[in-house]
Amino acid sequence: MSTSSSNVDAIGRDAALDFVLALRRRWADTVYPQLRREFDAAPGAPVDTLPTYAWFAWLERGSQQMLWRAVGDAIGAGDRRIPPATGPATATLDPSLALPAWYTGCDIHVQPGGVWRDDESALVYELGAKLVMLGENDDYRFHRLFVETSVPTRAYRRIVDFGCGFGKSTWPFKALFPEAEVIGIDLSAPCVRLAALRAGERGLAVQFRQANAVASGLEAGSTDLVTSTMLVHEMPVAEIGRLFVEAARVLAPGGLLRFLDFQRTGDAFRDLAMVEHGRRNNEPFMPLMMAADLPAMAQSAGFVNARWVAFDERAQGRLGELAWPTRAEWHFPWAVLEAEKPA
Ligand SMILES: C[S@@+](CC[C@H](N)C(=O)[O-])C[C@H]1O[C@@H](n2cnc3c(N)ncnc32)[C@H](O)[C@@H]1O
Repeated sequence: MSTSSSNVDAIGRDAALDFVLALRRRWADTVYPQLRREFDAAPGAPVDTLPTYAWFAWLERGSQQMLWRAVGDAIGAGDRRIPPATGPATATLDPSLALPAWYTGCDIHVQPGGVWRDDESALVYELGAKLVMLGENDDYRFHRLFVETSVPTRAYRRIVDFGCGFGKSTWPFKALFPEAEVIGIDLSAPCVRLAALRAGERGLAVQFRQANAVASGLEAGSTDLVTSTMLVHEMPVAEIGRLFVEAARVLAPGGLLRFLDFQRTGDAFRDLAMVEHGRRNNEPFMPLMMAADLPAMAQSAGFVNARWVAFDERAQGRLGELAWPTRAEWHFPWAVLEAEKPA
């Protein structure tokens, strides 16, 4: 029996993906709890003097670099172009849009070239995003849970998803509120095109537009719900301030804001791990966002009842207060920023 060289290559690519995923699991469920035990046993000791720290830190960044290499090889072996969308979803690009320097200046999540450079960037991001949540987001359950538990059931006329990426945060809004006009906005042209392709494949009539969320081009008062998922921690704090002003502008009176992101937990070790994660995972603005008072910023932009509530993707989703169940392994402190525009 002979094995073709392309089969051997494919087996090698699968093995690389399996290896890096196993490595990330052990980092999360074995190395992180060990470092925590050392941290708790040595109050006041700088974390980088603890015996497991060097392993923890190296594995965090090294496994992420390996992940992108393995995913890049898997995508590079296939067709690297995004075909035009043929289903009911649309993509509107803005070739004159200037991408901000803070956005292009950093390979976010250590993904070489970021998510915006070319078609391959978006395809690599799509596959990487599927793998990076360690199998916890099969069929994008996480995003569905956010919509199902954090968004009140209403007759929304228009819903806007800021920073929609390739659309996985946007699809559940259209699925749950089919009568609403649903618009996804992103800076990345390849992501916008991929989002329209994938939404179309699901039969979802979503409009995807390339724009900066802080200057969305949407009509004032045109929207009943503005949402974002994993956007604000990628933006400088001053830009988040502009985002609240834009959200308040596009919302109709009584409209809702729901941003899913991260918050500080008050657990010194966990919060420190998130600050370091921001550094090692090329998310330079995340610690600044987590230290800023976003509810106060939202209120300054005209929102009321602005508050963070915890979100647990492995349980019932929105938890209703800012407290999370205890869990030993490394995991994100998900939280939803909720606010309303006065009626
Ligand atoms: C971590 S991804 C999340 C994507 C999507 N919401 C999801 O949950 O899969 C963040 C996205 O925000 C986009 N983005 C960052 N800053 C933006 C801005 N100012 N305006 C529009 N999109 C932005 C990035 O291009 C990226 O696609």
